[in-house]
Amino acid sequence: PTIHVITPTYSRPVQKAELTRLANTFLHVPNLHWILVEDSQRRTPLVTRLLRETGLNYTHLNVETPRNYKLRGDTRDPRIPRGTMQRNLALRWLRETFSPNSSQTGIVYFADDDNTYSLELFEEMRSTRKVSVWPVAFVGGLRYESPKVNAAGKVYGWKTVFDPHRPFAIDMAGFAINLRLILFKPQAYFKLRGVKGGYQESSLLRELVTLNDLEPKAANCTKILVWHTRTEKPVLVNEGKKGFTDPNVEI
Ligand code: UGA
Ligand code: MN
Repeated sequence: PTIHVITPTYSRPVQKAELTRLANTFLHVPNLHWILVEDSQRRTPLVTRLLRETGLNYTHLNVETPRNYKLRGDTRDPRIPRGTMQRNLALRWLRETFSPNSSQTGIVYFADDDNTYSLELFEEMRSTRKVSVWPVAFVGGLRYESPKVNAAGKVYGWKTVFDPHRPFAIDMAGFAINLRLILFKPQAYFKLRGVKGGYQESSLLRELVTLNDLEPKAANCTKILVWHTRTEKPVLVNEGKKGFTDPNVEI
């Protein structure tokens, strides 16, 4: 099957470095299709060129998250979670591109642009029948969070400190979905509003599967194959107000 990797991304000083690192990983993965969705009004020249030059099989989309979503005096958190509109656009693209009856097999994986992915991870997810799961390092204030797997190889809960009673207490990087399931449940999207922190993943997964359906990977969730790394913001104070370096040089 083809692995459709969905990555939301936005413009910032480290964007090209992040995408370069991701592309260098993906180039080692057979049969990968990268759906890169820019959080922007237009597809930018920087990303357009980068994608073209990687030689990867890709689809380049864009949708801008509305910037002024915060309603004054609203006590609930009206923030749209980062990358959510972009992931939903990619889900719609898949549904418009592939027919549920087609013989085309595929796996869908949400890969944020700043995480670190082992090559073994992609081989593990390739056999996903419905939804496969595995641990993710550096989330929820722990070395790693993990699904709990019993002796029979079934997922029965979540080894997390932060809200283990969430329906799916798992980070975005901790699961993959069979494309067939995405196509057969065309109403399933990430919820945009009224989603408490940490509930975004559950908002999609609960539309697709139950706990009983989950397939543990990575040696029954005993191996770490993905890290929720976050890139430090570079200090650019010496650029000053007008900028010191040549603005025509792309970084
Ligand atoms: C955590 C989770 O790992 C994310 O999957 C989740 O979307 C996010 O929290 C959230 O709920 O807001 P975190 O490292 O805090 O991740 O988030 P980022 O890595 O900054 O953003 C997640 C993805 O969205 C990245 O691929 C990033 O490039 C993209 N993004 C971020 C945008 O497209 N637009 C933005 O304004 C910010
Ligand atoms: Mn991140």
